[in-house]
Amino acid sequence: MALHLDLTGLFGDGSDGRLTRDEFDAALPRAIAAREAHLAAKPEWRGLGGRSDFLDECQARAKEVLEEQAPEALVVLGIGGSALGAQALLSALAPLYQESQPAAGRPRVFVPDSVDPDWLGALLEHLPLERTHVNVISKSGGTIETSAEFLVFYDAIRQAVGSDEEARKRFTITTDPASGHFRKIADELGFTTLTVPPGVGGRFSVLTSVGLFPAELAGMDTQSLLEGAARVDQKLDAAEPTADAALAYALAHVLYMERGKPIHVHFPYSQRARLLADWYAQLWAESLGKRVDLSGAEVHVGPTPVRAVGPTDQHSQCQLYVEGPDDKVYTLLKLGKFGRELTVPEPFVESPAFSHLAGRRLDELMEAERQGTEVALLEAGRPVCTIELCKLDAFHVGQYFLFLEAATAYAGGLLGIDPFDQPGVEAGKVAALALMGAPGYEERAQQIRANQAARTLFTLTC
Ligand code: PA5
Repeated sequence: MALHLDLTGLFGDGSDGRLTRDEFDAALPRAIAAREAHLAAKPEWRGLGGRSDFLDECQARAKEVLEEQAPEALVVLGIGGSALGAQALLSALAPLYQESQPAAGRPRVFVPDSVDPDWLGALLEHLPLERTHVNVISKSGGTIETSAEFLVFYDAIRQAVGSDEEARKRFTITTDPASGHFRKIADELGFTTLTVPPGVGGRFSVLTSVGLFPAELAGMDTQSLLEGAARVDQKLDAAEPTADAALAYALAHVLYMERGKPIHVHFPYSQRARLLADWYAQLWAESLGKRVDLSGAEVHVGPTPVRAVGPTDQHSQCQLYVEGPDDKVYTLLKLGKFGRELTVPEPFVESPAFSHLAGRRLDELMEAERQGTEVALLEAGRPVCTIELCKLDAFHVGQYFLFLEAATAYAGGLLGIDPFDQPGVEAGKVAALALMGAPGYEERAQQIRANQAARTLFTLTC
């Protein structure tokens, strides 16, 4: 019942582009200082695994929704940190194909994190709207995509159920306890709300009501999810700094960035874990990609996370990874045990083409593929490490979340930037609001239009 981190393949003897142990050890004091600063400030998300308040409020609301509405579908409306946690949880822990075959007595769950009219329109046509519950998630309460989705779904559900009163019951709004448009609307109109704590940023919020309410409604073991996170939190806290796994992971990645390897490939060998890589990619990119450091100096620093999934991407990306530019660090994600055992049958056992497969389990083949990738990368001198989850259950996913959140915070400290803000995202949000004519953004809209350059446009038509 553990998460293992194997960093062996990150270190070489100096004969290839990998770090040597001595170089890593020499940088440890810098990492230890970053860790001390982080632990002294101790952000609120570090303790989420040990808290029961969010779980209590989510369980109470989920029970009410299930008993009073017995929804066939749950739609989660949010984007970025308000959607990726739920998506990762669903892909890792809900029944596969839950969108058509959910857990017994639970709704099918959809997380359409976009305002793509094709996607939302098709979903609206597909859903039994009078049997649909909607969880709107926005910490700031001002994100334009979530606002638009809320209006579209509210109107459609109101039409389906015939009144505002009935429609409102079918919504749960997860937002800041005091500020933002959604808080105001919820308080004025009487929507039920759940809390996003002000001190926890979107991409660090999966273990609050943001991830817990959809997980609870979908029937996941939310208690174990929190226990897994709490276990890693305690372990990291109690570790000697040199034995802090998250710190070692962060330090190695930062050192590699400084040596011209800023591309970090997260490569789960598990189809169900593929959206964990999406969650990681946002966490790593949005937290660590920054224009200025803590002193205000322009640094334009940050890694580029890349998501891959094994073995599929062996036949898509690995040629580049093994022989292309040596500018990447690889994290393979291994499962100690898969949920099912499937053995290859033996109808052509005499054939040399198949004899080595006959009677073998597919999880053995998955692991051989993972090791094959590892060997190919290492022989090409590429840095590789492995995160192993003994199995893909709630307890281990909770460990995975907390481990990578801690590593991200440490990496931010090592880079000397603030990993908890996202001014680049806010800039895009403001520009979209201005372009949509939101009140208060008139001047910004004028500026954008004035700055729009003449287009370089090719049109290829018959
Ligand atoms: O991690 C973040 O802070 C962002 O990705 C936000 O979660 C995203 O922009 C959505 O913001 P909000 O929850 O305020 O609607």
